[in-house]
Amino acid sequence: MDDKFTALTPQIYAYLLAHNPSRDAVLTDLANETAALGGWSVMQIAHEQGAFLTLLAHLLGARSIVEVGTFTGYSSICLARGLAPGGRLLCCDVSEEWTAVARRYWERAGLTDRIELRIAPALDTLRALPERAEIDLVFIDADKTNYRNYYETLLPRVRPGGLFVFDNVLWMGEVANPANQDESTVAIRALNDALAADARVDTVMLPVADGVTLARKR
Ligand SMILES: C[S@@+](CC[C@H](N)C(=O)[O-])C[C@H]1O[C@@H](n2cnc3c(N)ncnc32)[C@H](O)[C@@H]1O
Repeated sequence: MDDKFTALTPQIYAYLLAHNPSRDAVLTDLANETAALGGWSVMQIAHEQGAFLTLLAHLLGARSIVEVGTFTGYSSICLARGLAPGGRLLCCDVSEEWTAVARRYWERAGLTDRIELRIAPALDTLRALPERAEIDLVFIDADKTNYRNYYETLLPRVRPGGLFVFDNVLWMGEVANPANQDESTVAIRALNDALAADARVDTVMLPVADGVTLARKR
């Protein structure tokens, strides 16, 4: 095996963060408010992952982004900040309570007019979207058992060259633990296998935070 990775220690992670764009007051306050929710806060994406999403959106010149799983809004702010002028972000979630926090921070960040939130099971929202291949970027970070359904529903709606970003593809390492057969682990494993063999996309799986797969539509 090629062991060409640097295992992260707290010290190395602090160094990495110090060499990423610093958080502004909006993201700092949102991270702090979310941390106060306790255990749920683990659902929020990592600091460097947010910078990564903004950069990806910029690179794609994204005018249309879809996020599946918004929670308190951290990733949505990072995505919306990478939109091209006039671009729009569609956010999907089922929680009024958590997305109420997101709405407050969108307002503070001056992003409210660029973001639309639909509160419903995401599959319903996505199936109702026009069947035109016009989406530039998709970020999938909701219920793991539906990742594959979100992908198949959105693939025809993503433009050639458009990008999917799947979060949590390493699932705290559990995907590589065959003894773990819980529903979410099995679903992520199946997604990872399917994407690696999917001729409709070019993919790369990266050890960013809890694992991220990028899949570019051919
Ligand atoms: C991991 S969190 C998203 C974290 C967010 N991306 C962030 O950076 O803060 C997952 C979210 O998916 C939402 N969710 C779970 N099942 C869903 C479903 N079937 N449809 C839409 N949203 C769902 C939850 O309410 C939760 O807010």
